[in-house]
Amino acid sequence: MSLTEHEIEHLREHIAHYPEKRAGAIYCLYYVQDKYGYIPRASLDEVSELTDLSPTQLDELITFYTLLRRRPVGRRLIRICDSISCYTRGSEQVLAAAKEAVGVEFGQISRDGAVTVLPSICLGLCDRAPAGLVDDSEDLGELTPEKIRDLICSYAAETLDSKAAGGQQILAVLKDQQ
Ligand code: FES
Repeated sequence: MSLTEHEIEHLREHIAHYPEKRAGAIYCLYYVQDKYGYIPRASLDEVSELTDLSPTQLDELITFYTLLRRRPVGRRLIRICDSISCYTRGSEQVLAAAKEAVGVEFGQISRDGAVTVLPSICLGLCDRAPAGLVDDSEDLGELTPEKIRDLICSYAAETLDSKAAGGQQILAVLKDQQ
């Protein structure tokens, strides 16, 4: 797993806009995460060479920024806020329902690969508490245990549909070969 020459060149050009190389670290880490869905260990070495920050310093940055992650996640990543506004409006029950629906611990990938659920600090959606975020881009507001269960079921169904479509394609190819 490594960045291509072209990608490294792009990152070098981006970093050159900053007075210090280290200022470009967050951009590089997001770039890697966009590519792989998470930030693998090998990429820390590559970003380290580009930014002059050690892999340990980069790891600390990733720990600090909750939208960055070191582990792979499911096809959909659901963050559910458990900070004060959301907590007082029932995020604990929403999280419990989400965990039950995915059938694995927070941060793990559901067995069908469809979903990972993560508790999160404030997502800036307090006026719609309890709130969440899908794939770091789609807002979820006024969540209830029922709503989150339905959403997770719909993602599981999406996965089944795509597997069924894949199966149909294989059957079609086999038929053509007969
Ligand atoms: S406290 Fe939950 S979004 Fe702010």
